[in-house]
Amino acid sequence: MRFDYDIAPVTGDSKWFTEARFGMYIHWGLYALGARHEWLKGREFMTNEQYHKYFKRFDPDLYDPELWAQLAADAGMKYFVVTAKHHEGFCLWDTKQTDYNVMHTPAGRDLLRPMLDAFRARDIRAGLYYSLLDWHHPHYTVDVKHPLRYNQAFLDAQREKDWQRYIDFMFAQTRELLTEYGKIDVMFLDFSIPPLEGFPGKGAQEWQSERFIRMVRELQPQIMLNDRLGIPGDITTPEQYQPRGWIRVGGRRVIWEACHTFSGSWGYYRDEESWKSVDTLVKMLIDTVAKGGNLLLNVGPTGRGEIDERAVDRLRGIGEWMKRHSRSIYGCTAAPDGLAAPGDCRFTYNPDTHRLYLHIFSWPFKNLHLPGFSGKVEYAQLLNDASEIRMVEGEQEMTMEAGAFNEGRPADTLTLQLPVKQPNVTVPVIELFLR
Ligand code: GLC
Repeated sequence: MRFDYDIAPVTGDSKWFTEARFGMYIHWGLYALGARHEWLKGREFMTNEQYHKYFKRFDPDLYDPELWAQLAADAGMKYFVVTAKHHEGFCLWDTKQTDYNVMHTPAGRDLLRPMLDAFRARDIRAGLYYSLLDWHHPHYTVDVKHPLRYNQAFLDAQREKDWQRYIDFMFAQTRELLTEYGKIDVMFLDFSIPPLEGFPGKGAQEWQSERFIRMVRELQPQIMLNDRLGIPGDITTPEQYQPRGWIRVGGRRVIWEACHTFSGSWGYYRDEESWKSVDTLVKMLIDTVAKGGNLLLNVGPTGRGEIDERAVDRLRGIGEWMKRHSRSIYGCTAAPDGLAAPGDCRFTYNPDTHRLYLHIFSWPFKNLHLPGFSGKVEYAQLLNDASEIRMVEGEQEMTMEAGAFNEGRPADTLTLQLPVKQPNVTVPVIELFLR
C-alpha cells in the first residue's frame, strides 16, 4: 500500500528534516541576565544605554556546549536551532559587521562555533535563528514592536535613519553565517510585522525578501528556510500552539514545525512557574508527528551558560521515553487517511516499514477496539518491551475462561487485548505491523 500525502514541494532538502521530527531550539543572549523574558528590552521600553548593563556583564563561565549537545542527543533530538542574533541585536559570533557581539563582552570568545562543533559531532543537524528585528542597530527604524516606539528623541531621529544600511548589514551578517560556519541545515528568520497603531509594518518588501532568499540559496542550496520573511518558505512555523491537523496552505499539506517553550518564555526566565510536565511534552511531540509535523522544543540557558535543572529534568524524561519509543517518531508521519485513532489515542505511521503506532494517552481497561481494522494487522506488540498484544478479529468471542461474551462489536472491528496494568512508561505505544 502506498499512500499519497500530496505535500507541497519545497526548495530545501526536506528529507532529513521530516525524518528527524524532533529538534532543540536554543534562545541565548544578553536577556539571560535579565532572566525575565527575551523581550524584556521591549516590554520595559529600555534604551540601548539602559540595556548595556547586560552587555558589560555577559560572562558565561560555565558554558559547555558538549554538555548541551549531549543533553539534546540523549533527549532524542536530531537537529538544533540557536539564536545567532535575537531581537536585542546582540550577536553570539565573532561578526565583523558590528561590535555589538560576544567578543566585546567579558565572554570574549565566539560562542557559536564550539556549539556547532559539539552538536555536529553528535550527528545533530545545525540550524541558525536570525532576528530580522534589531533593537540595537542605529539604522533600524521604528515599528509597533520597537522598544522606543514612544520615545520622542528616538522618534525625532527617524529622519536620519538610512534603512538600506540596515538591510546591507542584515545581508552581510547572513552571508558571514552562511559562509564561515560550515553547512547550515536550517535557517529560522524572525519575523514580519504588520502595519499597526499608526506604525509602518515590515514585510517582504522592507526585508527585500526575494533577493535575500536568492542569496541564502546561492550560499547554501540545501538549506531549509522558514516562512517568516513575508513570503512562503520551506517550513510553516506555528508557535506555542498545536494545530488541529496537518497544516494546509492553499488546500495542500505543507512541511511544518511547531515551536514550543517549556514555560512560556524563550529566554531564561528565573521566576516562571508554568513549566510543562514530561507527560505533556511527550504528548505534544506525539501529537505533532501524528499531524505530519516537527517539534522544535526550546531551552533558554542561563547567564552562566547552563541549561537549568528544570529543563534538564524535562529533557531527561523525554529521553527516557524516546529510548524505547523513538521508532514511532523518526521517519513517521500522520496515518493514511481513513485510519482513525480511537479516543485518547494518536496514530503515527512509518511509510517505509508500513507499521502503524498507536499511542495511548489514557490507558483503558483491557480492550481497545479499532473499528475498520479487522484483517489489516498481522502482528501487534507493546513497543517498550516487544511483548505481544493479542488480537481478536471481528465479532469473535473475547475469552473462553470468563465465559463467552460479545457486546455487538461491528464485524470489521479489531480488538486489542491490553494488560490491565499500564506499562510503566509516560505514553504506552502499540506497534501494529500492517498486512
Ligand atoms: C517570536 C518571538 C520570539 C521567539 C520566536 C520563537 O516571534 O518574537 O521572541 O524567538 O518567536 O520562534
